[in-house]
Amino acid sequence: MLTGNAHVSRTVDEILTDILSPAGRDHLGALYAELHALGEVHRSRLLGRVVTSYRAANAVLRSSDAGRNRPDGRPMFPDIDEHPSRQLIGRTMLLVDPPHHGRLRRLVSKAFTPRAVAGLEPAIAELLTLHLDSFATRAADGEVVDLMTELAFRLPVAVIGRMLGVPAAEQPGFQDAVRALNAVIEPNVHQDVLAVADTAADDLEAYFIDLVRERRARPGDDLTSALIAARDDDDRLSEDELVSTLVQLFTAGFETTTNLIGNGMLALLENPDELAKLRADPSMMDSAVEEMLRYDSPVQLSGRMSSADIPLPDDSTIPVNRFLLVLLGAANQDPRVFTDPQRLILTRREVAPLSFGGGIHYCLGAPLARLEARMVFTELLGRYETIELAGTPERQAFLTIWGLNRLPLRMR
Ligand code: HEM
Repeated sequence: MLTGNAHVSRTVDEILTDILSPAGRDHLGALYAELHALGEVHRSRLLGRVVTSYRAANAVLRSSDAGRNRPDGRPMFPDIDEHPSRQLIGRTMLLVDPPHHGRLRRLVSKAFTPRAVAGLEPAIAELLTLHLDSFATRAADGEVVDLMTELAFRLPVAVIGRMLGVPAAEQPGFQDAVRALNAVIEPNVHQDVLAVADTAADDLEAYFIDLVRERRARPGDDLTSALIAARDDDDRLSEDELVSTLVQLFTAGFETTTNLIGNGMLALLENPDELAKLRADPSMMDSAVEEMLRYDSPVQLSGRMSSADIPLPDDSTIPVNRFLLVLLGAANQDPRVFTDPQRLILTRREVAPLSFGGGIHYCLGAPLARLEARMVFTELLGRYETIELAGTPERQAFLTIWGLNRLPLRMR
């Protein structure tokens, strides 16, 4: 049902204003509950049509009439020509429609199948041990360790960096650029933030142009070399597409997983009874990670344009040529689908959360992200009998890629 806002104490746009503001969104779950009480799909002056129910979000993500371009073929971002960052991301599989999308996705999908990812387990285990060992002595001495800087950021970048052939010594330098580039997919983003994203896009692009040049001269056993071979053999990827695909894999591949580790750990610490159950029965790990993804989703939203009228499960229709904001984080807390949605229940067995999206853009890296998270939580809980918060966690300002800057812990 599309909601108007005449009979409620807060309007949809008042609630969305809070959701969009770092200061207003202290209790995101409570704001989502307010929206759920108003209906499934909302008309907003600020953001177009805002989809919050699980079934409507699922339907939109899977609809072939909800794509990335406007019906006349122009891109979703009206200001794309003014921003190199929008252009770079706009060329990637994430933001293009079929048939172009399938062509870009097919070339890299082999590297991310569950089987291929399972083959990465020994390499991930080695990198995980390396990073855990790097703060083990300090943790044993009772020092406060910031999980975000010491592990949650470094491990995913090390994993995707190794897959792509980005040398380990160069990886830490990417954190600021990747974070800055993520602004491109924020709703209502300020121009000055986009200007920083533009510089980051130029830097990342230049780095991967150099890496491609190097690997073309001296191929290695990495995905960059494999993609160059695919491009050179079949001419299926243009040079621009090759570079933007590499940038996208690199950037999509870690801040999100970083946030799954950070948000998941915070959720466990705030729910000690659930944490105790997981410690007592590590076989719960798979469902525990799914529940962490649902409870505090590392990606909170996704955008689409309607290229035709889209009928929804509640018999309403989204008209052609509308911008749609799908609030994945809200759909994951839809009380029509999840019992007691604001509670962390690690053994939950309801429908799969929408944290990895759905339909043709369903996250390519989902098997990798799940594997990394399972391994991290298994190792951390195995190594440390006690893990406690040692200060106030600090949230990042972005909503689309949703996570922490700092998570200070004491571990024994
Ligand atoms: C917890 C970690 C992760 C989360 C929550 C996540 C979430 C998502 C979501 C929601 C989408 C769909 C966006 C949309 O429809 O607008 C997506 C797409 C994508 N993700 Fe992830 N992601 C994660 C990790 C990864 C990793 C580790 C990689 C790769 C190394 C990756 C690569 C991609 C790619 C390439 C796409 C675009 C797929 C397409 O358009 O066909 N992601 N991700």
